[in-house]
Amino acid sequence: MTNAYDAAYHRSIHDPEGFWGEAALGIDWVRRWDKVLDDSKKPFYRWFAGGVVNTCYNAVDRHVERGRAAQAAIIYDSPVTGQTRTITYAELKDQTARFAGVLAGLGVGKGDRVILYMPMIPEAVVAMLACARIGAVHSVVFGGFAPNELATRINDAAPKVIVSASCGIEVNRVIAYKPLLDEAIRLAAHKPDHCVLLQRPRSVAELTQPRDVDWAVAMETAVPHDCVPVAATDPLYILYTSGTTGQPKGVVRDNGGHMVALRWTMEYVYGVKPGEVYWAASDVGWVVGHSYIVYGPLLNGNTTVIFEGKPVGTPDAGAFWRVIAQHKVAVLFTAPTAFRAIKREDPEGLKIKDHDLSSLRALFLAGERSDPDTVNWAVTKLGVPVVDHWWQTETGWAIAANCLGLHEFPIKPGSPTKPAPGWGLEVLDERREPCPAGKVGSLVARLPLPPGTLTTLWQADQRCFDAYFSEFPGCYKTADAGYIDEDGYVYVMARTDDIINVAGHRLSTGAMEEVLASHPDVAECAVIGAADSLKGQVPLGFICLKAGVIRPDSEILAEVVALVRQKIGPVAAFKSCTVVKRLPKTRSGKILRGTMQKIADNESYRMPATIDDPGILEEISGSLQDIGYGKGRPA
Ligand code: COA
Ligand code: AMP
Repeated sequence: MTNAYDAAYHRSIHDPEGFWGEAALGIDWVRRWDKVLDDSKKPFYRWFAGGVVNTCYNAVDRHVERGRAAQAAIIYDSPVTGQTRTITYAELKDQTARFAGVLAGLGVGKGDRVILYMPMIPEAVVAMLACARIGAVHSVVFGGFAPNELATRINDAAPKVIVSASCGIEVNRVIAYKPLLDEAIRLAAHKPDHCVLLQRPRSVAELTQPRDVDWAVAMETAVPHDCVPVAATDPLYILYTSGTTGQPKGVVRDNGGHMVALRWTMEYVYGVKPGEVYWAASDVGWVVGHSYIVYGPLLNGNTTVIFEGKPVGTPDAGAFWRVIAQHKVAVLFTAPTAFRAIKREDPEGLKIKDHDLSSLRALFLAGERSDPDTVNWAVTKLGVPVVDHWWQTETGWAIAANCLGLHEFPIKPGSPTKPAPGWGLEVLDERREPCPAGKVGSLVARLPLPPGTLTTLWQADQRCFDAYFSEFPGCYKTADAGYIDEDGYVYVMARTDDIINVAGHRLSTGAMEEVLASHPDVAECAVIGAADSLKGQVPLGFICLKAGVIRPDSEILAEVVALVRQKIGPVAAFKSCTVVKRLPKTRSGKILRGTMQKIADNESYRMPATIDDPGILEEISGSLQDIGYGKGRPA
């Protein structure tokens, strides 16, 4: 053993029960577990079976009881409304207990689902914690999704109550949520009993009686509700994420293992001490928001920043530096795309000089591959360790990271450093044999996965098994391809499925293809992720029109672009599409998306041996060049 990371990693793999059993002492238990790891239903492992806990108690109440009542739990910084507000742990407890009372009063109890469709405001956190307090299962839906996507989630989770706000505020527009919510409920087969709506002054909504309840009115008379003990293995939340089809996957997280893992990561991955200010500049609708805006920092007794703004445009590329200086942020976590946006507007980093960033100890990046240019820029401009770390909605926390709380390794830009403790990471080839160092293959993790990872997909064990555990028996398939070098550094290169990453947002090209195919004039279609200097990737569509369609291409293209925005939402950022006569396919009829992507990205490609008609690739290149892509040539 040469350092604390090596020791921790070795123990986590060879004695996972000892390792995580010790980490579990960082959590308050109503009743200790019978077994640290229950492996009776492999590959569905359960952590801390027999344990009884409450996540809200651990995130809020215990800090109030132990000297943090007056400490800020949340700093709400909202450049889009011009507000900054601090909520202490005592206030957070009071609000959460009262909102738990509101939910209970509406008939929500242990195991019932509650959907939250909220902007980045403290009430979103209050609502999540209130669910945890009474053992209800929350499912937060990102505000940039359209009613159709919300309806899909309503049908799957079947919530008793939906909590929302009257509007969200983007840089250049106010988005009234109520019409979107009403439309989603109209589209859904399942109807919630009630909606609780927080009225925001920017756009006050008309409530639908008797279904809708006004948040403020309900809170006035609410009876505070105590924490309800739940099994460690009971679900805390469902978070839907893109799968390969239009039907999203409902990732389920438990209470006990989730708390143990997240609190541990705050100390050992991020190196943050209780009391410090931690800022994850993401959104509560994503997994980063769940783990590191809400649960991780609060479980660890930190102050978390809720930022309702963007890295640029609210008002400028100095926004992040202002927030760090004003609130004395110790650790910042964001997506590389945010830094690319800042770098594009302020390449010299001049705005950094206007602020005192001495509180900042480290920057963590995740959500997409950190390109070396961005990492190098951040290292030079900020002068603090810049940690690329790799994780997924399914894993809930980092699979690979430079664990600053254990040992700081020298960084290699382009690599998220080493597997985090608990992760038996391997690279396997098509024959499921280990790849030698440096060779790209499928990144898989040996089971059991550490605590805090997905326990299943909501009411879909078989889908969970098929998606993650069947292809590489005894392993979890990450669906990322990459390699591990001679020094044990991990490199994550690309997804092996049709998921793309747009501005750190995970999207399914399959889901977009379903929307394009639903247009009456479209005979066939394909969507790929094309490289983009700001967003990492952007979706790029190809449509073949049905025989006999004589309307102008431009009209149909405008319609399909609008259709994706309407069905999936603005977050899909689907803006580029082209009409082609034919799609390139193999002789067996499989669309050659990989080759199309190389052409779009101006890369050379190997002519696929099984291509049906090589001439089509020239046609594709021609159509793409008309919209600014597509100079890739055969090697
Ligand atoms: N509610 C409604 N609409 C939303 C939304 C929300 N919560 N979030 C985004 N949108 C809309 C945007 O307004 C935009 O609409 P437009 O097409 O009318 O312009 C569209 O969805 C795409 O949004 P986004 O991908 O965020 O692009 P952008 O151009 O607005 O901003 C960045 C680009 C890089 C500044 C922005 O993506 C960013 O800050 N990213 C940070 C990364 C991040 O938070 N990642 C989460 C995982 S860590
Ligand atoms: P999400 O579920 O939205 O967190 O997206 C997960 C996917 O984002 C992963 O499977 C990767 O493809 C990609 N990803 C996240 N973090 C990184 C990273 N640090 N490096 C490379 N890819 C990443």
